[in-house]
Amino acid sequence: MQREQILKEARSIQEWIVERRRQLHRHPELMYEEVKTSQLVRETLDELGVAYRSPIAETGVLASIGDGDGPCVALRADMDALPIHEQADVSFRSEVDGKMHACGHDCHTSMLLGAARLLKEHEDEIQGTVKLLFQPAEEGGAGGHRMSEEGALENPQVERIFGLHVWPTLETGSIGACEGTFLAAAGFMEITVRGRGGHAAMPQYTIDPVVAAAKVVTELQTIVSREIDPLDSGVVSVTTIHGGQASNVIPEEVRMKGTLRSLTMEGLQGLQQRVQEIATHVGTAHRCEVSVEFPGHDYPPTVNDRSLWNKTREIAGQMLGDDNVLEVPPVMGGEDFAYYTERVPGCFVGLGVRNEAVGATYMVHHPMFKADEEALPIGTALHVNFALESLRELATD
Ligand code: NI
Repeated sequence: MQREQILKEARSIQEWIVERRRQLHRHPELMYEEVKTSQLVRETLDELGVAYRSPIAETGVLASIGDGDGPCVALRADMDALPIHEQADVSFRSEVDGKMHACGHDCHTSMLLGAARLLKEHEDEIQGTVKLLFQPAEEGGAGGHRMSEEGALENPQVERIFGLHVWPTLETGSIGACEGTFLAAAGFMEITVRGRGGHAAMPQYTIDPVVAAAKVVTELQTIVSREIDPLDSGVVSVTTIHGGQASNVIPEEVRMKGTLRSLTMEGLQGLQQRVQEIATHVGTAHRCEVSVEFPGHDYPPTVNDRSLWNKTREIAGQMLGDDNVLEVPPVMGGEDFAYYTERVPGCFVGLGVRNEAVGATYMVHHPMFKADEEALPIGTALHVNFALESLRELATD
């Protein structure tokens, strides 16, 4: 059966995939700075004889395999790293202080390169076109939005898209996702509380923004606990708070940042409105001026098409066994794959990379994060099978 055969082929090039993954891991680059990463992708595609368009979305690469015509299916990987200092004990540790592939995007990129290699070898079976989207800036830079705005889904028109993310709560050899909304709508906020600074021993001559900011933080917690339907989901997290320098000086202002999450765009907008109202009014109650900003790049929710998730379950079930294909409830993480599923039916899945035996137990965005590399050929095979089978179905539609 072709599905298992593809997995076998992916396993036979595991070393090749891992080699590229480790090279990327040593040289992490932050959003829209993926210059060397993009170069490695292009050089590999050159070696494979795969055509591509670059640059797109600054550092992105849009490759295509097949006859250049429809039907067309897209596969996507993100390339950016995080501003985290790596503490994982691996031989291919990050060589850049303060930067790390802590979200596994190095794995995503190398798995898609593996798929490019296998698809090129199977090019005679491709009726239509497979587009491979190597996109920048998933971590808050909306690179997926840029790719899609710059035409990645057009000419020929993409009819289905597939993507995956390493999933540290799932064991290697398994995958998981769900139908419908799988990942949340996500946005950021910046709050500034302005008072009047002065001597901390004479608070009567000041307007203290520290106390007001503390009230803002605690009052914001009532949005989720008291205003949202308990059966609905929302997150309001204040994640940074900065103000003052000395223990005997009341500062002029306190600045805070944070994030908002909901399973719908309307829900996210509702949270934004209430953050605005509560923060400004609590500030006023304490004689402070409060400004609330939402810097943009709000990610829509990532929505899985029912039939494509069923198709992926079937493929993965045959490759890994049905017991290793799991229904995972939605999570409040954001993902800019959403910018593609907004436009075309898509499927986004979590790929198990947890393996206690190799110390791969930490969550993504953790300085000790590690992915079990045995999972990489599985990801490659999922990409390839999804593309080949989808094209066959679309051709006979
Ligand atoms: Ni990620």
